[in-house]
Amino acid sequence: MAQNRTQLLFWSAYSRVYDGLLKLQPYAELIAESVDHLEVAEGAVVVDLGCGTGNCLNRIVATSGDLPAELIGVDSSPQMLKTAKRKLRQDSRARFVNTSLLDWMQERSPASVDSAISVNVLYTMQPEDRERFWGGLARVIRPGGSAVVVTTDQAGIGPLAKQHLNQVPLWRAFPPRLVAVLLMNMVIWMFESNSVYDPASLETLTSEAESAGFSVVKSKRCYGGEVEGVDVMLVLKRG
Ligand SMILES: C[S@@+](CC[C@H](N)C(=O)[O-])C[C@H]1O[C@@H](n2cnc3c(N)ncnc32)[C@H](O)[C@@H]1O
Repeated sequence: MAQNRTQLLFWSAYSRVYDGLLKLQPYAELIAESVDHLEVAEGAVVVDLGCGTGNCLNRIVATSGDLPAELIGVDSSPQMLKTAKRKLRQDSRARFVNTSLLDWMQERSPASVDSAISVNVLYTMQPEDRERFWGGLARVIRPGGSAVVVTTDQAGIGPLAKQHLNQVPLWRAFPPRLVAVLLMNMVIWMFESNSVYDPASLETLTSEAESAGFSVVKSKRCYGGEVEGVDVMLVLKRG
């Protein structure tokens, strides 16, 4: 089932404040850690599925320098992409595609991607779309290629707030833009509690990834700590 109009409108509204998240210490660490786990070899074609405002791609450029040959950001929200394009406007290797990532993977040439990353996108999908996601990922990533998939498997802000407040003094912990982001997250939790979004467990995701032909190189809890974090990360290798 494709995203409906309400969901697209939600991402459009969220794009206005989304980068307030960069002020949330656990988010900054999540992006850094996800990108650290992504294999990027010289000449690689790298795709960010559900790139949002381009924070992962930006980090890939910062950490991998000249290595990637092509950086592709795919997102269904034109407003999110507008910010991503602005961030990467200096980089001639970056290009952006405004479409459903499921359609993009279906239409892309097989085995034409070396590395893929997708952070906090998969939880928005129902099981039938997750099946398309894994099938599409296995289709576009070349044998031996890699992927990092990160997604939330539980609602709540407790572990994030705790980690954030451990690292940032209270008086500057919650600037207005970050408060706006946290309010937008309430809409996400509402979608989750109404089953519009369907976060899967680490066990389910692992089994889906393996059935699609990936081996799980590493899996861990993150985004609020390795014990209480609200996200799970899978580092994958295409067999
Ligand atoms: C929570 S944001 C994550 C953005 C980015 N990956 C990050 O970590 O900052 C989710 C993004 O996924 C995009 N998205 C959700 N479902 C999508 C789909 N089926 N196809 C393309 N983009 C999608 C939304 O538009 C939004 O930009």
